[in-house]
Amino acid sequence: MITTTADVQSQASISQSDSQLWTEDITIQYGDHIISRNLSVKIPHKSFTVIVGPNACGKSTLLRALSNLIKPTAGHVLLDGKNISTYKSKEVARQLGLLPQSSTAPDGITVANLVAHGRYPYQNLVRQWTDKDEEAVLSAMQVTNTTELSERFVDEPSGGQRQRVWIAMVLAQQTPLMLLDEPTTFLDIVHQIELLELFKGLNQQGNTLIAVLHDLNHAARYANHMIAMKDGQIVAQGDPREIVTEQLVEEVFGLKCTIIEDPIAHTPHIIPLGR
Ligand SMILES: Nc1ncnc2c1ncn2[C@@H]1O[C@H](COP(=O)(O)OP(=O)(O)OP(=O)(O)O)[C@@H](O)[C@H]1O
Ligand SMILES: [Mg+2]
Repeated sequence: MITTTADVQSQASISQSDSQLWTEDITIQYGDHIISRNLSVKIPHKSFTVIVGPNACGKSTLLRALSNLIKPTAGHVLLDGKNISTYKSKEVARQLGLLPQSSTAPDGITVANLVAHGRYPYQNLVRQWTDKDEEAVLSAMQVTNTTELSERFVDEPSGGQRQRVWIAMVLAQQTPLMLLDEPTTFLDIVHQIELLELFKGLNQQGNTLIAVLHDLNHAARYANHMIAMKDGQIVAQGDPREIVTEQLVEEVFGLKCTIIEDPIAHTPHIIPLGR
């Protein structure tokens, strides 16, 4: 089932704030292993930014730093001009939702309960579950085509179904910024396109999306801002129609290719030449 514009409109209650995210000269490392040094990246406000780059180049690490999961050892990550580490965790979670590359759910939890976890930033001792929370969960499950799984345990659905459940949890969080690490992994072609169209719709409504994608053609077609990374550094960034070239693909991935124009979207379409 392809997500309709009406379905996307049902996400319209996503709050629109001025959440802006950038880094200033950050160094990110695990122990002594430096992944990125002096990295400054500004996520254009209300963009659909896609990060591309080879395995192990530091894409997930950057997303973790941007979402305050790991603290840079030098420099700062700024959310709305303020060091992200100075916010309370629920304050960050009301601005920014993260879909990690892999997630593990607690045992014995149903799909509906997992998606409901997306509402935790809005709950406290005074404010418990409301109709708005219920609506956010139902809407997120509807647009990700997971409603029929709601009473199943999370470990029962297929890999692709489970991936859509995790995405539903992030959508239920209704944050103006969404960071999505390989959201289309495990999905069949219909669900990949459906999801990318959903993200495009959310972006058109004013949300800022930052996704890591391995499919360069999807990246070039859907992103309005692309960041190409290699060895922890940014090699190029900008409109994919301007930056995706045969030279860039060879420099970043070591892959010889030819580039044609996508006949539908008129964006760069990469054809690998093989060895
Ligand atoms: N928790 C960790 N502890 C130690 N090293 C890590 C950790 N997570 C990642 N790394 C290392 O950091 C480097 C960058 O990893 P990262 O996961 O950011 O790459 P990536 O670009 O997301 O790759 P992929 O496309 O495979 O997902 C790799 O060398 C990896 O081994
Ligand atoms: Mg990764």
